[in-house]
Amino acid sequence: MSELIRLDRYISECGVLSRKQAVPAIKAGRVYVNGSIIDIPGYKIREDDEVTLDGNRLNYSRYSYYMLNKPQGCVSAVKDGLSDTVISYLKGVRTDGLFPVGRLDKDTEGLLLITNDGQLCHELISPKKHVEKTYYAVVDKELPEIAYEAFLKGLYIGEEKPCLPAILKKARVIEPYEGYGYELTITEGRFHQVKRMFYAYEARVTYLKRISEGGVKLDEELAPGEFRRLTDDELNKLKESEGLE
Ligand code: URA
Repeated sequence: MSELIRLDRYISECGVLSRKQAVPAIKAGRVYVNGSIIDIPGYKIREDDEVTLDGNRLNYSRYSYYMLNKPQGCVSAVKDGLSDTVISYLKGVRTDGLFPVGRLDKDTEGLLLITNDGQLCHELISPKKHVEKTYYAVVDKELPEIAYEAFLKGLYIGEEKPCLPAILKKARVIEPYEGYGYELTITEGRFHQVKRMFYAYEARVTYLKRISEGGVKLDEELAPGEFRRLTDDELNKLKESEGLE
């Protein structure tokens, strides 16, 4: 039998209203459960009960999926004694049980997925699944022509095994940064991998931003520190994502 859940929480987890907005909506008689008005926010229902808000059927999922445009200066963790965590940016949502999908360095910006779906997280970060992650990097030195082929073949970065094939492309340098711009697509998540791949050619990364993961692009409408729920389409892309090989 499915778990019992408060009606106001159920509605907020459907993503249509925040919990704070759900309470007056329930009290105003806008919510029906299995065909009857329920005006008690704490009323307990089952996940498979039929709930309508203003006549529209709600779709409940026990999992939540967000994209955060991670700003620099916060850590990709649930808790940290010293620094802000990425979870602290999810204002107004129920954050217990949520965690970041993998890690971005403290000084890296960009797309970070946050969920409470452990299975999807595992699939996205497993090196066996080869999920593509694309980064925009500004570096202080131009890479030689041979680097493109070396990245594609599998670059050694001081570990026993070479990196999996990675695609390097030149990119424009965005203001206010100076140097040489690149886009790099990798399918693993080794420690400081992007910085170490550039450093194999003595190029230091001065700015790093993840711009896509598993076919989902960072929403450029999100300023650093802003987040939103993933759309159904984005979630389907993630679930179907495959790598370069
Ligand atoms: N590679 C890095 O070096 N840093 C990141 O944050 C992500 C990938």
